[in-house]
Amino acid sequence: MLWIKALHVIFMVTWFAGLFYLPRLFVYHADCQDQPGHERFVVMERKLFAIMTIGALLTALFGVWLIAAWHWPVTEIWLQIKLILVAALIAYHLYCGALVRRFKLQQNTRSGVFYRWFNEFPALVLIAVVLLAVLRPA
Ligand code: HEM
Repeated sequence: MLWIKALHVIFMVTWFAGLFYLPRLFVYHADCQDQPGHERFVVMERKLFAIMTIGALLTALFGVWLIAAWHWPVTEIWLQIKLILVAALIAYHLYCGALVRRFKLQQNTRSGVFYRWFNEFPALVLIAVVLLAVLRPA
């Protein structure tokens, strides 16, 4: 069972690597003026989004497996708050996917500064979820 938890945490790190780096690419892409640079960012963003989507799916799969295997009651408050935060993170992930398409079509209208702030959201969720998972009532 501890293997499931280990895999859950490993894929969570994979997912977060993408959640941190993709909006960083948006920062630089928003400020990019030349066509070869634009095309390079499009490839990097598409590949990174594919890898982080696999990380997200496997994190969720092993998370749900942990709930099922350890019969975690979904009535536990820490778990309910965690699942709400995870739902917000999934919405953020899907929005990143929409932004990847928007950048590809050269339809981005937002500045690099916007994406710098946008980049902070996953860090806040990470802190909250890890604190919930580790400091939850026994
Ligand atoms: C669908 C998504 C998710 C579900 C259903 C889920 C569920 C769970 C469950 C049931 C545990 C076992 C708790 C225990 O017995 O100790 C766990 C552990 C953990 N989860 Fe998740 N989780 C999900 C997503 C995430 C995300 C997005 C993060 C990070 C931001 C995360 C971080 C952790 C950590 C660090 C642990 C280990 C806690 C410990 O034992 O010290 N999980 N998760």
